[in-house]
Amino acid sequence: MNASRAADRTAKRIALIPGDGIGMEVVPEAVRILRAAIAKSNRQAEFVEFDWGAERFLRDGTTLPAGAVEMFRRDFDAILFGAVGDPRVPSNRHAADILLGLRAKLDLYVNARPVELLDASLTPLRDRSENDIRFIIFRENTEGLYAGAGGQFRRGDPDEIAIQEDINTRRGVERIIRYAFEYARARKLGKVLMSDKSNALTFGHELWQRVFAEVRREYPEIEARHLYIDTLAAELVRDPSQFRVIVTCNLFGDIASDLAAQLAGGLGLAPSGNIHPGQVSLFEPVHGSAPNIAGKGIANPMGAVLASAMLCDHVGWSDLGDLLRAAVRAAVRERQTTRDLGGSRSTREVAAWLLEYVTKAKAALT
Ligand code: NAD
Ligand code: IPM
Ligand code: MN
Repeated sequence: MNASRAADRTAKRIALIPGDGIGMEVVPEAVRILRAAIAKSNRQAEFVEFDWGAERFLRDGTTLPAGAVEMFRRDFDAILFGAVGDPRVPSNRHAADILLGLRAKLDLYVNARPVELLDASLTPLRDRSENDIRFIIFRENTEGLYAGAGGQFRRGDPDEIAIQEDINTRRGVERIIRYAFEYARARKLGKVLMSDKSNALTFGHELWQRVFAEVRREYPEIEARHLYIDTLAAELVRDPSQFRVIVTCNLFGDIASDLAAQLAGGLGLAPSGNIHPGQVSLFEPVHGSAPNIAGKGIANPMGAVLASAMLCDHVGWSDLGDLLRAAVRAAVRERQTTRDLGGSRSTREVAAWLLEYVTKAKAALT
């Protein structure tokens, strides 16, 4: 047995944070499917669930408990997250502490949001096929307008001032841009597009321009292109086939990734990874807690399943990731879907179909 195989045999430790709303519906289903895939491959994983979310916050004020970050770093390989957000917590305080807190404190600087059209019927665009919509957005995930710098002055006064600072560090900008180029190089994708708003944000995004110009020189085989974010939004709709790798700042990545998700069937299908290479990282669907459908059993579990596939990739189990992706692709093609994708199945039924696919799949797994 070689060393990597030996490492493979040790149990991975996976934390579960279902969170709020449909997060509590889709995470348990994704975990059942993930467990089946793991069992089939003779690997082991231990799952530990945390009840952080609105309910707990309203009960005892807990958001992200002291010591949580150190615990994740020490004891876990990955975190599977559902969603946070609850109308009973209008300040969104718990979400800021838990989700944005983990992204920042675990230094998960890459927010990877792949977009893949699994079946031509799912795109709202005319005359587009699977090959036309296949790209990934790398969203800077620790700074920008999400850094939490700013303040409110004379609150409640007619002369009130609210300031939200856009923090761009050379180190932060460089590492996400470099990650995008490395990703493109490793997969021979041939091109990287950086998007900013440097025509208006002449301090912060001028830094993005300079760093991009520097880093691209190290990757002469990769076509490096730039679009302002407003034009990117238009181009994503006009012709998404021109994109392979997109890298952008925190807020623009948030918005562009919802738009992009819709090109491939919507938020119900979109996964994301909050990644620090080589360290404990957090995987979640792109969607939120969807209070408008929570508790009805109709949420699409596929985004969470595809997020757990990304988790598998991260812990070195990309064959399991491939199996989970194959299951979702098959379910979409067989129309075993929830209503957001035009089907009539419940969350449970879709998950049961995926579970059966995984269980019955020919074991190419070792
Ligand atoms: P949302 O993603 O929760 O919902 C947007 C729309 O998409 C809704 O119509 C919803 O029903 C639909 N939708 C989302 N996921 C779906 C799924 N799996 N299956 C079927 N339909 C799905 O966004 P929102 O309504 O703007 O936000 C609701 C709450 O979630 C807010 O509190 C927000 O802050 C929070 N939120 C959290 C995260 C996160 O935890 N990562 C992400 C986005 C929003
Ligand atoms: C996302 C969400 C979060 C974000 C919210 C809940 C703070 O929209 O993960 O895309 O803006 O990053
Ligand atoms: Mn978002």
